[in-house]
Amino acid sequence: MCHKGIKHRIAVFVSGGGTNLESLLLAQEEGFFQSEIVLVVSNKEDAYALERGRNHGIETYVEKDWDSLESLLKERQVDLIVLAGYLKILGSEILEQYKNRIINIHPSLLPKFGGKGMYGMNVHRSVFEAKEKMSGATVHLVNKEIDGGKILLQTAINIEKCSSPEEIQKAVLYVEHEALKTAIRLYEEDYV
Ligand code: GRF
Repeated sequence: MCHKGIKHRIAVFVSGGGTNLESLLLAQEEGFFQSEIVLVVSNKEDAYALERGRNHGIETYVEKDWDSLESLLKERQVDLIVLAGYLKILGSEILEQYKNRIINIHPSLLPKFGGKGMYGMNVHRSVFEAKEKMSGATVHLVNKEIDGGKILLQTAINIEKCSSPEEIQKAVLYVEHEALKTAIRLYEEDYV
């Protein structure tokens, strides 16, 4: 893979509130990375993340079927897909067409607390119940194995002071934002 300093055209896939998307848009606007977010895609028409995209003047799209989405990604010359709270499992077509060009942010230190059903608060509740001392964020390439692709970057935090899953979520979300924008810069510079 050669991405030496290349400015990618990014589509961010979302399903929820979009704080990771917001963080990426602010990072782009301050020149933290060179790549450009050209499209926000959601499987949920009421995802607040779409509103965040519109507020930053980014085209948004609520997906209907793969053929329509495939055409739009091609028309917009998207060459990097970032999953930021996207809760749908990707089909084999997109995984094949964008092999090694889809990255995901997961709110735990994979491979721990990853896999089927491990998303959002489910992760933090499991971490809390397991009395883990550490948690954090993982950015990884996406393949057909849920949360199984090559790990690009991990940020670990001590959560011993967290007294609830909600406190863990808050602490982890902060490092997710840092990790995801850093991973995009590393991807541009071919350090991943
Ligand atoms: C984040 O915790 C992310 O790790 C997970 O879903 C959540 C999305 O949050 N995949 P937001 O929509 O970016 O605020």
